[in-house]
Amino acid sequence: MPALAIIPSEIVKLFRERFHSNSEPGVYRAPGRVNLIGEHTDYNLGYVFPIALEMACYAAIAPAEHGRLRVYSRDLNETYEIEASAIAHAKPQHQWSDYVIGVACELSKAGIEITPADLCVASEVPTGSGLSSSAALEIATAVALLGSQSMSKLDIALLGQRAESQFVGVPCGIMDQYASVFGREQAAIQIDCRSLQHEYVRLPDDVSIVAVNSMVKHELGTSAYRERVAECQEAVRAIQTVNPNVQSLRDVSPGFFEQIQNSIPEVPRRRARHVISDTQRVLDLAAAARARDLPGMGRLFVASHRSMQHDYEISCEEIDFLVDTAIDIPGVYGARMTGGGFGGCTVNLVAPEAADTFRQYLHTAYLERYGKDAAFYNCKPAAGAGRMDVSG
Ligand code: GLA
Repeated sequence: MPALAIIPSEIVKLFRERFHSNSEPGVYRAPGRVNLIGEHTDYNLGYVFPIALEMACYAAIAPAEHGRLRVYSRDLNETYEIEASAIAHAKPQHQWSDYVIGVACELSKAGIEITPADLCVASEVPTGSGLSSSAALEIATAVALLGSQSMSKLDIALLGQRAESQFVGVPCGIMDQYASVFGREQAAIQIDCRSLQHEYVRLPDDVSIVAVNSMVKHELGTSAYRERVAECQEAVRAIQTVNPNVQSLRDVSPGFFEQIQNSIPEVPRRRARHVISDTQRVLDLAAAARARDLPGMGRLFVASHRSMQHDYEISCEEIDFLVDTAIDIPGVYGARMTGGGFGGCTVNLVAPEAADTFRQYLHTAYLERYGKDAAFYNCKPAAGAGRMDVSG
């Protein structure tokens, strides 16, 4: 499993080479996340249960004299630049730089002056993997551009979400940016997406959390995401004919849903059933984690996967294969898809002593079936975004 690929001194070196500079850039880090349960519940104001990862996006920044915000992406080996004075009115370019400029634009709308600077970004979070490489880039950019200017953690997360929904144009919920900001070592974050408050839940020590990257991302992703958002809204409208006080699927308890589900048309009814049951599963998983009930946690993982597979219809063949194969391996408590869907990663709860066999067996089975090398990431909960000490 890959160790950290980027260390702060390397990004400083890269910064100096790229920008022909001797300055001491500030270095910032913002992690990706793996969601343990509660998928597509965030924009329905329910609960989610992610952990922030050690894999992160790094940003090195220093003020410059050239009047522009100049951004270099190590991963794409591309530079994008824009006059600092034009940022407030910037328009999306439909490329990677939108994540950075979207954040700069939102900061400027929030009254933070964006002064000319060089910014170098490099990420360990694999793109298209469902581990939130976009939020890691947005939040790394936000903390780098803020520097010593203060903004509350919640405002930083909300600003990142606005950059993604309003500038990049994906109507995402708050989970990814929130997890990147509020991550904590050894803990999962139970986020209430309505109150925007959270609770840290310590995970049992005797279980490994392993993400398995299917290396596929089906194109459907963004359009299907919008479609699901719309279908959930349609379910809410149907439920309002029975109870006008319902504002979102968060307001619908599993018991009430049972009673009124026949008043919702078939497709939105299944979407709602997933959202309402997965929100409940977040609470159940947190309780099972506190009780160190690993088989119970595993069963919730599998139930969540089946719900995404059949009711929310966001899984795909390769991911179902990874889940179905994993749960038959001894020492695996449970497996499910994580993230937006249509590919990306599964997340698995594995007894630590079974982790090697799990990896070897699943890797071989997937290679034989799909001719692809799945990647395995050991997910240790890590701290949220912040400035790094580069002295050492
Ligand atoms: C993407 C979005 C999140 C969330 C997940 C699904 O990662 O950015 O807001 O909706 O999908 O749980």
